[in-house]
Amino acid sequence: MVAKIIVVMSPKGGVGKTTTAVNLATAISDLNKKTLLIDANLETPHVAVYYGFVGFKYSLEDVLNEKAKIQEAIYTGDNPDFHLLPSRVIKSSQDKSMHKLIKINIFLEELKDKYDFIIIDSKPSYDIGFIKLIKGANSLIISNPDITSMIEAKKLKEELDIAGIKIIGLVVNKVNSRIKEQMTEKEIKEMTGLSNIWKIREDSKVYNALKQGIPLVISSQKSIAARDIINIAKQIIKI
Ligand SMILES: Nc1ncnc2c1ncn2[C@@H]1O[C@H](COP(=O)(O)OP(=O)(O)O)[C@@H](O)[C@H]1O
Ligand SMILES: [Mg+2]
Repeated sequence: MVAKIIVVMSPKGGVGKTTTAVNLATAISDLNKKTLLIDANLETPHVAVYYGFVGFKYSLEDVLNEKAKIQEAIYTGDNPDFHLLPSRVIKSSQDKSMHKLIKINIFLEELKDKYDFIIIDSKPSYDIGFIKLIKGANSLIISNPDITSMIEAKKLKEELDIAGIKIIGLVVNKVNSRIKEQMTEKEIKEMTGLSNIWKIREDSKVYNALKQGIPLVISSQKSIAARDIINIAKQIIKI
């Protein structure tokens, strides 16, 4: 087995990258695919919070700083198919720079054979330097159905195209059919030139899940956003 590596990306913050990465990784592992979720957003790492996972001993930073071995920083829970490599919220004075991420490809090479999917949450950026470090990585772009998010998503798409990095799709998150002003799928397709477009509807249950520290696709499987994400997971495992 060679893992499909998916980096969840967006130039803008707050669009739903972490929500998507967490729930997609959880949903894919629930489909019996061995999945590793990595929090590579060293500046504002929140993935562990979505699992109510606090007080872990080692994190991605410790691996990058050679204070821990990779296996010591990978955790599992009830589902043996789901593994998490978290980052730690650190004090603002500490070194948050991404330069150490250069080493990520070394241990990803080591992990590739152990998983079906490796999902990576990243910080908001146009900078495709990070994904370029990862051999064979695919990108999943997250955006919202408004013009400014979509302008940024389009710019990111163009950067990724130039670099020859595969885009598996565009997730349009926080879709609300009652807001008529939101961009339609047709408009998004025309604007971005992307054809694989998935939507996740706006859903207050997303906040409940975060509060509980249980991913939405587990805590509220029947909620509209969970159904959308599970649907995306089912399609992604077939790509
Ligand atoms: N589909 C959704 N419906 C409602 N709220 C959402 C949805 N997706 C994300 N959110 C909320 O939007 C905020 C930003 O989401 P987050 O995943 O942290 O974004 P990012 O990682 O891109 O900064 C969070 O408060 C999250 O709970
Ligand atoms: Mg985030």
